[in-house]
Amino acid sequence: MDQTHSAPKVLVTGGAGYIGSHAVLELLAAGYRVVVLDNLSNSSAESLRRVTELTGKPAPLVVGDIRDRGLVTDLLAREQVQAVIHFAGLKAVGESVEQPLAYYDNNVNGTIILLECLAAAGVRALVFSSSATVYGDPQQVPVPVDAPLGPTNPYGQTKAMIEQILGDLAISDPRWALGILRYFNPVGAHPSGRIGEDPRGIPNNLMPYVSQVAVGRLAELAVFGGDYPTPDGTGVRDYIHVVDLARGHVAALARVLARPGKFTVNLGTGRGHSVLEIAHAFEKASGRRVPYRVVGRRPGDIAQCYADASSARQLLDWQAELGLAAMCADAWRWQSDNPQGYGEAS
Ligand code: NAD
Ligand code: UD1
Repeated sequence: MDQTHSAPKVLVTGGAGYIGSHAVLELLAAGYRVVVLDNLSNSSAESLRRVTELTGKPAPLVVGDIRDRGLVTDLLAREQVQAVIHFAGLKAVGESVEQPLAYYDNNVNGTIILLECLAAAGVRALVFSSSATVYGDPQQVPVPVDAPLGPTNPYGQTKAMIEQILGDLAISDPRWALGILRYFNPVGAHPSGRIGEDPRGIPNNLMPYVSQVAVGRLAELAVFGGDYPTPDGTGVRDYIHVVDLARGHVAALARVLARPGKFTVNLGTGRGHSVLEIAHAFEKASGRRVPYRVVGRRPGDIAQCYADASSARQLLDWQAELGLAAMCADAWRWQSDNPQGYGEAS
């Protein structure tokens, strides 16, 4: 796409976060203009400063909340965007069990307010960050995109509810163009090592935990369960490189800009890897040891989950390109170059 003033402009909610910052980078690289709306509740403006450093292009940030109707209305009037990629949301499963109202308010209510502001501004193209968590414990793997939904925690419920709302909206007014992307397990970082995942406190998710063990910040990995009905007894997931995932958004954006209607796709590689495979691949990529101990299962965990990603190939002409070695190498580069994340820079 050319770099003229007529290149489409995209509002990226939650664009300072982990996946959002990688998507902003890929959008700029593809020639789009962006404006980010983020309340920085789980991120730092430093991520976008580095995106600009990497791309040489502006990634302007409006610090504010998607639930702030006045702010969103003013932003839409000022910026004249053609589409929205909606990442903003809270995402910690355990926290959602403890604070369900905060999750329903931020994620569901926030999305309703955003959609109302968009309708009023006449912007009807949106790509939404959903999650494989909407499937709950899947009845079959690879999980087809039309598998029954069964979220098992408030976070997952918010994603399923928002999907329902988007479906009803598409029926109510056929001018809406709505893309629902169900991510599997995003991992890794930009290969520059300049942007990556910066979890607050002790990570809940496997890859950032393993990275922090390898760098010496944490002592050992607790492997949650060694008795699952999987090849080595540990949990199997579909890990997808965040750069592949970000590129999936560029493809989804092109589609919502091109035609109305609603679509839903799984964004995964279609391959499952066990916890032990991840630990060993990370050792190889980093040259460090990842000591581990098998402990009891984590409540709420499932044995295995990986995607049937054929709908994304058909509808978006997109598929994941990067394998486990690149995911671990890039996660390691980010972790070792930025042992405190954005900490000192932000
Ligand atoms: P993240 O926390 O790094 O990014 C979310 C961003 O949204 C943060 O920058 C946060 O400050 C911002 N935000 C939150 N609530 C907001 C609000 N009310 N107004 C404005 N900004 C707000 O998380 P991420 O991993 O980049 O995830 C992005 C999206 O993808 C989320 O919706 C998440 O639920 C979804 N998702 C993530 C994963 C994953 O494993 N990372 C998997 C599936 C789906
Ligand atoms: C988690 C979320 C899910 C979200 C997904 C996306 C939970 C219950 N689910 O799923 O909603 O969509 O992240 O990233 O939090 N593991 C260990 N030791 C650890 C951490 C994890 O053995 O310290 C294992 C887990 O048991 C699992 C695998 O590693 O088998 C992956 O775990 P994790 O990264 O937390 O992702 P999910 O459980 O798939």
